[in-house]
Amino acid sequence: MIRVFSTPQSAARALANRLARMLRADPSLVLGLPTGRTPIPLYQHLVELHRGGRADFSRATTFNLDEFIGIDAADPRSYRAFMQRHLFDHINISPRRINFLNGTASDLDRECARYERAIERAGGIDLLILGLGTNGHIGFNEPGRALVAGTHRTRLSAATRRANADLFGHRASRVPAGALSMGMATILHARRIVLLATGAAKAQCVARMVNGMLTPRVPASFLQLHRDVDVWLDRGAASRIEE
Ligand code: GLP
Repeated sequence: MIRVFSTPQSAARALANRLARMLRADPSLVLGLPTGRTPIPLYQHLVELHRGGRADFSRATTFNLDEFIGIDAADPRSYRAFMQRHLFDHINISPRRINFLNGTASDLDRECARYERAIERAGGIDLLILGLGTNGHIGFNEPGRALVAGTHRTRLSAATRRANADLFGHRASRVPAGALSMGMATILHARRIVLLATGAAKAQCVARMVNGMLTPRVPASFLQLHRDVDVWLDRGAASRIEE
């Protein structure tokens, strides 16, 4: 289902409220979470809801989508540190129920296999929130000739390194060339998915994702295969969708 909100803020607020409701119904919810600029207002609203006593994360479990290779969790440029800054440091989640890919693991393939097992042991992901790369990537599943099913190592495209330059002193050349990411099957196995995209820069990609054919050139197009996926947009991101 596609929902269009008037502003990025109203989309974020509605999603935070939905998440808080789900947490009240099932306190041990397993969440999949993204990084990026898009979810920042969502995390702000969740922190507000938590402070107001309306979102209790004490029994929740989280799995983040991806992490850079070679960047330690304690490094402020890591996605883990991003999540601490924007969400985890401000809510009552138990640190042992925060799951993250370790981009500095000595054996990265084993690390990916460990993550898949951890998701399975947690009973799978109940709600996976996704952002959208302007090139159609989800997590770090980059456009290409083929897609990978499970959690895997991947090389980042020049466009994605540019999009992530903020964390690296605005220098794309400093963004790691590789990352670990949940794969397309890991994503599609989540019980429910909400993809959040805001801003006119995402409009073309959103249209290809919802109106286009399934193609590894637009990894997000594979979300059309999922039974329970919501695409939440602001007017800018929705502006090129064909009804
Ligand atoms: C990054 C992340 C994605 C995220 C995307 C969009 O590369 N790996 O998970 O969805 O960028 O980011 P933004 O929300 O900043 O546009």
